[in-house]
Amino acid sequence: MALSDFWDRHGAPRLIKFACGAKPIMELREKVVPMARGEVFELGCGGGINQRLYNPAAITRYAGIDPGGKLLDYARAEATRKGWRADIRQGVGEAIPFPDDSFDTAVCTYTMCSVADQAQVVREMRRILRPGGRLLFLEHGRAPEPEVARWQDRIEPWWKPVMGGCHLTRPITSAVVAGGFAVEPLGARYLPGMPRPLVWTEWGVGVKV
Ligand SMILES: C[S@@+](CC[C@H](N)C(=O)[O-])C[C@H]1O[C@@H](n2cnc3c(N)ncnc32)[C@H](O)[C@@H]1O
Repeated sequence: MALSDFWDRHGAPRLIKFACGAKPIMELREKVVPMARGEVFELGCGGGINQRLYNPAAITRYAGIDPGGKLLDYARAEATRKGWRADIRQGVGEAIPFPDDSFDTAVCTYTMCSVADQAQVVREMRRILRPGGRLLFLEHGRAPEPEVARWQDRIEPWWKPVMGGCHLTRPITSAVVAGGFAVEPLGARYLPGMPRPLVWTEWGVGVKV
């Protein structure tokens, strides 16, 4: 097995799960994920970190997809630990394997950075939501300061292969708006204690209108 294959299969998933559980990230997850209501779909549910934050009393169904590999295994193991009925499937956000208008909430945390086609993924999340359904997002991406953004451009080419295809330069809120959501921004900032090009973060609620 080539070193890069070994890293993708074994090293990157562990590093991603560890990084995604950092304290400042968990504090933001705690603001966003418990807002989920009704029938809930999670995009990129790999790692399973969000599962502990859902309020089971507010949720009637939980489904999630992830492309597969170790991160999907972690998500299934987390569902077993939580002891709830979770419909976790292998799949990609560019072709979400659920019918139109079938969920009340879509949750997308730290995933738009990694998908192949961000615009298509946002369209797909809109498609599977019912009218009035809400997309809860918490993502890192393109920084507003030009100097930081220039560093993101420089770092991204070597960051991506190390971190499972993660981009540093993607738009966040504007991409959700472009996908047909009315967005209520909830916050935007650099996470404390980390290099600024890696941690420009935006979170909010997009409503399917
Ligand atoms: C940085 S991890 C974040 C995992 C999780 N969403 C979280 O908040 O901890 C990015 C996730 O996006 C998933 N992913 C990558 N490409 C994807 C795609 N095309 N569709 C859906 N998920 C994808 C990865 O497998 C991985 O689980």
